[in-house]
Amino acid sequence: MTEIPEHLLKRSKAAKGGASGGSGDSGGSSSEPASDGGDAGNTPVAAAAATPAAPAEVPEFPNLDPEPEPEKPEPEFVTASKSRQRIPVWALPVVAALPVWAWGFAGTMQEREVEDPVFVESSELYASAGCAGCHGAAGGGGSGYQLSDGEVITTFPEVVDMMVHVARGSAAIAGESYGADGRRVAGDSGAAMPAQRDALTRVELELVIFHERAVLSGEDMDQPGYEEWMEHMREAYESGEELPIDDEYFDLLLACADPAVTPGATGAGPEDPEETPCPGPHAEEGDGA
Ligand code: HEC
Repeated sequence: MTEIPEHLLKRSKAAKGGASGGSGDSGGSSSEPASDGGDAGNTPVAAAAATPAAPAEVPEFPNLDPEPEPEKPEPEFVTASKSRQRIPVWALPVVAALPVWAWGFAGTMQEREVEDPVFVESSELYASAGCAGCHGAAGGGGSGYQLSDGEVITTFPEVVDMMVHVARGSAAIAGESYGADGRRVAGDSGAAMPAQRDALTRVELELVIFHERAVLSGEDMDQPGYEEWMEHMREAYESGEELPIDDEYFDLLLACADPAVTPGATGAGPEDPEETPCPGPHAEEGDGA
């Protein structure tokens, strides 16, 4: 809506008054013809210019803007929620201490990963012994079979059968079936699994196999006997003793392996289980496993 500025309204009124007075003056007096004539000439123009903008002539337009919505009253539960304290006062110290606790906890986990040879050495061996090159850094497979996603556990449900296979390689049993339910035939993939007997120590063989099963294939580390197996590897590694995979040890592996899974296995068990138990995790009697 157009407001008419006050000074224009005044000018308009003055102009109207001036026009009527001027016309009388111009007729009655001839003493000031120039000034009168000038006034008379200017007045109608000023009046004409001001007239259309006079307030009376401005039409009232309907207000098309929608009425502003009245503020809805806030529901009670919203008000309650806004005023409620999110964390109870008594819990504040606990909440404040959480980051410190989390930091400490992460530190513990890291220490375990950084220092425990069962995790560190096993993972380094998987790369340095060449396993990663043929089976993939994460065990996804390559020129050698996939080991991850439970694959290697399906082939070898027991650790000791896998130890025989990795130590002996596949050329030595070419054409023979191996693995649970005769899953594989050695050499079928078109390449050979190189024997590791002369490349790894006993504990290295166990460690690299631990990495493939537990880390790459997600074997359950909470199953009975697993923690003891890890503890055995830890001690064997930290002792620094580098025991070779000689004939005696290989015979022990064959005696502990399952003839249904491993060609050449006897399944006879160790001669002296107290002195030289079978490697790998063992459930204690009565564990039901
Ligand atoms: C030169 C490549 C190569 C290297 C290095 C290698 N592998 Fe293999 N691996 C193979 C091939 C090829 C096969 C399948 C051979 C066959 O057809 O019998 C295989 C098979 C296996 C199998 C049997 C898997 C199954 O489900 O049948 C295991 C276990 C295995 N390798 C573990 C290892 C480990 C542990 C290492 C490291 C110490 C390793 N491999 C290093 C090529 C390799």
